[in-house]
Amino acid sequence: MHGHWSSRAAFILAVTGSAVGLGNIWKFPYITGENGGGAFVLLYLGCVFAVGMPILVSEVLLGRRGRRNPIATMAILGQEEGGSRHWRLVGTMGVIAGLLILSFYSVIAGWSLAYALKSAVGSFAGTDARSAAFEFFTFTGNWKALLAWHAVFMAMTVFVVAAGVQHGLERAVRVLMPLLVVMLLVLVAYSARYGAFEETLVYLFKPDFSELSGESMLIALGHCFFTLSIGMGVVMAYGAYLPEGTSIAASSLTVVLADTVIALLAGMAVFPLVFGNGLNPAEGPGLVFETLPIAFGQLPAGSVFGTVFFLLLTFAAWTSAIGLLEPAVAWIVERHQRSRVVGAVVVGGLTWLMGLATVLSFNVLSDLRFGRGTLFQNIDFLASNILLPASALLITVFAGWIMCRNSSSEELAMGSGLLYKGWRLLSRVVAPLAILVIAFRAVGVI
Ligand code: PFF
Repeated sequence: MHGHWSSRAAFILAVTGSAVGLGNIWKFPYITGENGGGAFVLLYLGCVFAVGMPILVSEVLLGRRGRRNPIATMAILGQEEGGSRHWRLVGTMGVIAGLLILSFYSVIAGWSLAYALKSAVGSFAGTDARSAAFEFFTFTGNWKALLAWHAVFMAMTVFVVAAGVQHGLERAVRVLMPLLVVMLLVLVAYSARYGAFEETLVYLFKPDFSELSGESMLIALGHCFFTLSIGMGVVMAYGAYLPEGTSIAASSLTVVLADTVIALLAGMAVFPLVFGNGLNPAEGPGLVFETLPIAFGQLPAGSVFGTVFFLLLTFAAWTSAIGLLEPAVAWIVERHQRSRVVGAVVVGGLTWLMGLATVLSFNVLSDLRFGRGTLFQNIDFLASNILLPASALLITVFAGWIMCRNSSSEELAMGSGLLYKGWRLLSRVVAPLAILVIAFRAVGVI
């Protein structure tokens, strides 16, 4: 028997938990930094509402209609609606992309866990730019340490998923999500007190369109899928546990708003410290790990707030990792009739092993470069830029073109009013076109 959420609020918390992650707290501030601040934020908001939101609605809709793991859901719906069980490949692709992403996501979340501990024991005190960079280099150079932190984080994820939908997933998000919001608000207040807050507000909310490049559009779109966890079957798996009669559109809107507000708050926590300490906002992946320790090292009670920051990042990554593991575990439980514990341990163990490729990319194999760069960069590229847009495209095409009108309007319970027509237009035309542009761009065709 398959689990279900105890309420609509639990579902919203879980999807928000999956959406809010490294993407919001680490990546959003940094890509905003690289793409000119306010104008990019506006562009990103446009993508989230015009492309991300309709696909999110489609994924939940398919999940609830199929009521199985994403692979079985697509097989069943494919047969019912389109005459072909081959649609299950869409589910398979999503599950594989999810595990590939989890393999590196867990490694980075492990860094965050390690940094929380480093901050707690006061290792950032008096850190300057050179020592922060050296510390990061030494830390990522030690593959055994990275592997161990990756193992700790993966074990935390397996533990929750093994416990089931209501006892594991739901309980975890009910505790972690409010905690996360409180920690974030505390950090924003701290940054406002000790950092350059006004400069941050101008930077984030005053658009200067001359700063936007053609690339920015693509970056905004790509990030909108990643941050909303679209195309990986996660939302579909979660939608399968959604009670009948819950409004899919209202739940999705809540998730999108929460994810967006949290990304903006993360910007308001990170940038004041960056600007206030004369650091570089476009530092890239090192922004959080190399730059913030310098700020926390100089500020009052920096080790406490540094610990809070890295715990926040770890918790956000945790609720996302749970989502990444769930579809594959649901598949093993339903298809192979194994217990959730066996499913979670086996999939978690294999994904942990796959993470070795990411771990080694920062040290032993850092000179091994091909395609997009290191092994890690290739895995990220394959999952995020190829598999993810491809399955998101197929999901929106299926929901918009293959599924019959009656099925989708019945499931969405929106009748055939303006809202329903709006969703159909976005999912049939706007979203597929946007994805095609990203995909072609990613493989260098345009
Ligand atoms: N949305 C997460 C983030 O922004 O960090 C990443 C993610 C989590 C993607 C879960 C996909 C997913 F299934």
